[in-house]
Amino acid sequence: MLGRVNHIALAVPDLESAAVRYRETLGATVTEPDTLPEHGVRVVFVELENTKVELLAPYGEGSPIAAFLEKNPSGGMHHICYEVADILHARDALVAGGARVLGDGNPKIGAHGKPVLFLHPKDFFGTLIELEQV
Ligand code: CO
Repeated sequence: MLGRVNHIALAVPDLESAAVRYRETLGATVTEPDTLPEHGVRVVFVELENTKVELLAPYGEGSPIAAFLEKNPSGGMHHICYEVADILHARDALVAGGARVLGDGNPKIGAHGKPVLFLHPKDFFGTLIELEQV
């Protein structure tokens, strides 16, 4: 079912200073900030040769990142995103296997304009998993 790691997402309290740190201290290529109101986040991507790191900061009321940052004020790893070829097929197989899909169970359009969904971290050893159809 799983393809490549599409990205690893890190929650950060301040997107601009995190982008500067990755760009200047680590010498990485970092995209311009993008706001995703339907996901309650602002994001930049650190572009690496083999994958991407997504830096996530809260946006708006009820952001899913806000509670995470309350528990981890300096930031931390928030989720890992795996690629799948067919997200609805993957979802149906996961649900049949007892995994829980967050939200209403239907894919949303993610930061790359492709369908994504999230799997409950308690079903995957404490790590939130994002699936992205590529
Ligand atoms: Co993500």
